[in-house]
Amino acid sequence: MKSADLYVRNCNQLLTCKGTIPKRKSNLQEVGLIEKGWIASYKGSIVFVGDEKNFKKEIRPEEDSIVIEGKGLTGLPGFADPHTHLPFAGSREQEFLLRLKGYTYQQLAQRGLGIQTTVKATRKASKQQLISLCLSRLDRMLLHGTTTTEAKSGYGLNLKDEIKQLDTLHHLNEIHPVDIVPTFMGAHEIPEEYRTSKRDYVELLIHKIIPEVRKKGLAEFFDVFCEEGVFSLEETRRLIKAAKKAGFKIKIHADEFSPLGGTELAVEEEALSADHLINITDEGIQKLSQSQTAAVLLPGVPFFLMLDKKPPARKLIEKGAVVALATDFNPGSSMTESMLFVLQLAVYTLKMSIEEAINACTANAAFALDRHGSIGSLEVGKKMDLILCDAPNYPSIVYHFGINPIKHVIKGGKIVVKDGQIGENSQTG
Ligand code: NIG
Ligand code: FE
Repeated sequence: MKSADLYVRNCNQLLTCKGTIPKRKSNLQEVGLIEKGWIASYKGSIVFVGDEKNFKKEIRPEEDSIVIEGKGLTGLPGFADPHTHLPFAGSREQEFLLRLKGYTYQQLAQRGLGIQTTVKATRKASKQQLISLCLSRLDRMLLHGTTTTEAKSGYGLNLKDEIKQLDTLHHLNEIHPVDIVPTFMGAHEIPEEYRTSKRDYVELLIHKIIPEVRKKGLAEFFDVFCEEGVFSLEETRRLIKAAKKAGFKIKIHADEFSPLGGTELAVEEEALSADHLINITDEGIQKLSQSQTAAVLLPGVPFFLMLDKKPPARKLIEKGAVVALATDFNPGSSMTESMLFVLQLAVYTLKMSIEEAINACTANAAFALDRHGSIGSLEVGKKMDLILCDAPNYPSIVYHFGINPIKHVIKGGKIVVKDGQIGENSQTG
């Protein structure tokens, strides 16, 4: 018999999302459904997933163990969000209003707005201000089911302010239940002061900032915006080589607005993921599908920018790519912390099935974060990161849209959201 200090009894439906990870093609349909499911954990790790009969055979709950009634609820693994720009200051409602008048995201960027607006605000903010802004955002993530998130710097664009953003993330990781995986993205845009000498900024990144950030151990991943008017394919290649040499794992903002070939480069350089892909070419799809590089799709972007063109989710899945989903939470192109909304958008706007979208927010999202050994599915030995929705069955999570059905969130075996409220185990509650 195994001990348990927390268990959930009799969930209407429990989705384990287990199986071969990463999930491709028809495997993406496998959500590991258990009707009337029971799940238990001990000291933060899952010790049991199955039915009542086996629970009673295998598990001896401790006397003071926490018991959650699962009747009427649907359970699934906590979401992993593998692409966010969490630590920023300021907001961009004014630019949103201009976009509503017909200006495009790129037109605003060409006029010195866009990312530069947020760089100005973020440079001005203190670390303490950034921490307090991010705490509210992390609370919203948790309330919408995210238990692990990636978070990028990239609004400092100089050593001091990039480090300020990354330090903020490390501090947040200590005080907030959401696990944060930091990414260094000093190559997010060309800073204002280097507008006419981009070459110098690329050299500065390669010879000073990339090695320095890595030496300080502040980030695990390196990301770059490979885009017309930002970093060219050649510049991206040089930056990635320098980042790999310094010890970073690689992610690329690839083929978002223009098909520069960032996807093919991501595959060549064995990047962990190629993200966006709205304008990926057929050749890019082919190469990505035969690789271990995840295709991280961000349906919040075409929604928020009101673009007709979407990332070709169906083609990518049919060819066998590792499709994952993320929010791309940022103030310019996707102002949402909600993975739940992204899951719904993937079904309604990318024509993914509900099962594919769930796996893309859990198992494959964990893979795109290189965390699939410990999170992303409900399996014995993995972290007890669990969402319980007030929904009679899993299709209802998508069918009933525009509301938040998440009732409880358990993170590392602790209840952090209870009855839709940030709970006592959350430091910010
Ligand atoms: O992923 N594409 C580049 N970066 C973000 C947008 C950042 C911003 O507008 O502040 C993105 O879409
Ligand atoms: Fe992004």
